[in-house]
Amino acid sequence: MIYVSRHEHFNAAHKLYNSSWTKEKNEEVFGPCANENWHGHNFDLIVTVKGEPNQDTGFVVDLKKLSTLIRKEVIEVFDHKNLNLDVEVMRGKMASTENMAIEIWKILQSTLPNITSTARLHCVKLYETPRNFVEYFG
Ligand code: NI
Repeated sequence: MIYVSRHEHFNAAHKLYNSSWTKEKNEEVFGPCANENWHGHNFDLIVTVKGEPNQDTGFVVDLKKLSTLIRKEVIEVFDHKNLNLDVEVMRGKMASTENMAIEIWKILQSTLPNITSTARLHCVKLYETPRNFVEYFG
């Protein structure tokens, strides 16, 4: 089994705010991410798929096609958006990196078969900052 990854980038705004808590508790738990008037992050998304190299191409997946798929299905949905207000798949959820990774997984799990019949989704890795990232394996 070989693992192949593609790295993409987007930025988006959010706030982390639980409306059933006081402002003080939100600030205590979420720190600057609770800022009422939003703030942005530069997200790095690394999508890993797995499979065996195709005999004719030597590829597990055509990375051009994978890049196009990620951009069309994920980046266009999230890039330059307000995660709390603009992104349908995030509606009603806390706009955390964890929840984003889960939603990105669902999108790619259902659309990856459009570009490959053999490679399978392995991991969605999402950096909110260079030091904070999550990984989701489905
Ligand atoms: Ni934040």
